Amino acid sequence: MTARLRIENLSKVFAENPRPALEMLRAGAGKAAVLEALGQVVGLDDVSFDVPSGAIYMVMGLSGSGKSTLARCINRLNEPSAGRILLDGQDLCALDEAGLRAIRRSRVSMVFQHFALLPNRRVIDNVEFGLKLRGVPPPQRRRRAEEMLHIVGLARWGHHRPHELSGGMRQRVGLARALATDADVLIMDEAFSALDPLIRTEMQDELLRLQRTLNKTILFITHDFQEALKLGTRIAVMAEGRVVREGTPQSIVLEPGSDYVAAFTREVDRARLFDARSVMAALATILRGQDRIVVGDASGEPGPGFLLDGEARVLGALSAAEVERARAGGPKPEPDGAFTCVPAGAKLVEVAGRYRPGEPIGVVDEAGRLVGLLGAREILARIAAGGSHD
Ligand SMILES: Nc1ncnc2c1ncn2[C@@H]1O[C@H](COP(=O)(O)OP(=O)(O)OP(=O)(O)O)[C@@H](O)[C@H]1O
Ligand SMILES: [Mg+2]
Repeated sequence: MTARLRIENLSKVFAENPRPALEMLRAGAGKAAVLEALGQVVGLDDVSFDVPSGAIYMVMGLSGSGKSTLARCINRLNEPSAGRILLDGQDLCALDEAGLRAIRRSRVSMVFQHFALLPNRRVIDNVEFGLKLRGVPPPQRRRRAEEMLHIVGLARWGHHRPHELSGGMRQRVGLARALATDADVLIMDEAFSALDPLIRTEMQDELLRLQRTLNKTILFITHDFQEALKLGTRIAVMAEGRVVREGTPQSIVLEPGSDYVAAFTREVDRARLFDARSVMAALATILRGQDRIVVGDASGEPGPGFLLDGEARVLGALSAAEVERARAGGPKPEPDGAFTCVPAGAKLVEVAGRYRPGEPIGVVDEAGRLVGLLGAREILARIAAGGSHD
């Protein structure tokens, strides 16, 4: 995957002349020290990360950590003090007014927490708004807006005014408006934060569903770690204007790296976060015949194994005793027990539901090839809070 959006050493100091503050930051001072010494607020301090094309990239942090400042810098609603913002390699910080307007209209769309709909215009006019600015002819933009309202489930609401809609519905209008522009990068700043929990969950599911077909590049800002885990391809955790941890949801929960990040991970439902691939034991080939392969746990510990065909697809399970006989160079083993296979991407909650005492679980890839082994021990160790995996 290539980086559609790259943030490079981005800093923002809210000051007429940011130089002295930037020097302090470079020398290792933090936001508090700069405020103390210069009376200036640091919004961002040397922030760098890559947003891969097609990702939902989450920026997560407590209030005041700099999330909105980051979003506003990308759209240049805030002027960065240092660093670069590259969209497909083009530095947005170097654009003039006209260039910037063009990018805002056609490449980067924003969805805010508080809808920002035009109250006196009908819903359909609101959705059309960005297209109108771009000079798209009326019939065309009407068709496009109707299509987007349909996608977000508001096909019959186009002729109502925003105040006739609930908060959740208004947020959908905001989303439809952002999608209508055809921008391939969406920046969503706390877009679901004002919604009540049920509607919010619905909108999250909706976004995941939409993203499967639209394949936009989304930078999604939230103060909710659960939301970050649910939606995120990757997550950047921010504190005091800095990125303190960056990685995939599973890797961040597994290795928070600091007490600050660990505190967010405590309440996480690990069974719904981690998948079979993340806990499976590696395989070792024990015997390889012409078209049959015997595999067991790579650690060499006694345990069940599998008999595979020449393409590594599962023919059957082997008991620990059969595997031992094969290890000792005994005769060709025969499958002798029941087993279960799960996809590598299956969440542990699902895997646990299919677990049968005494039966080995094989983990298979998309092509049906065995890629790992699972037992109750692996599953339970990972689900246990604290998440230590040894
Ligand atoms: N226009 C401004 N002038 C001065 N300081 C500002 C300005 N905008 C933001 N800040 C400061 O920058 C820091 C980061 O603010 P920002 O709005 O980016 O936080 P946030 O992470 O979005 O918080 P929240 O979750 O509350 O939305 C804060 O210390 C804030 O006081
Ligand atoms: Mg904010």
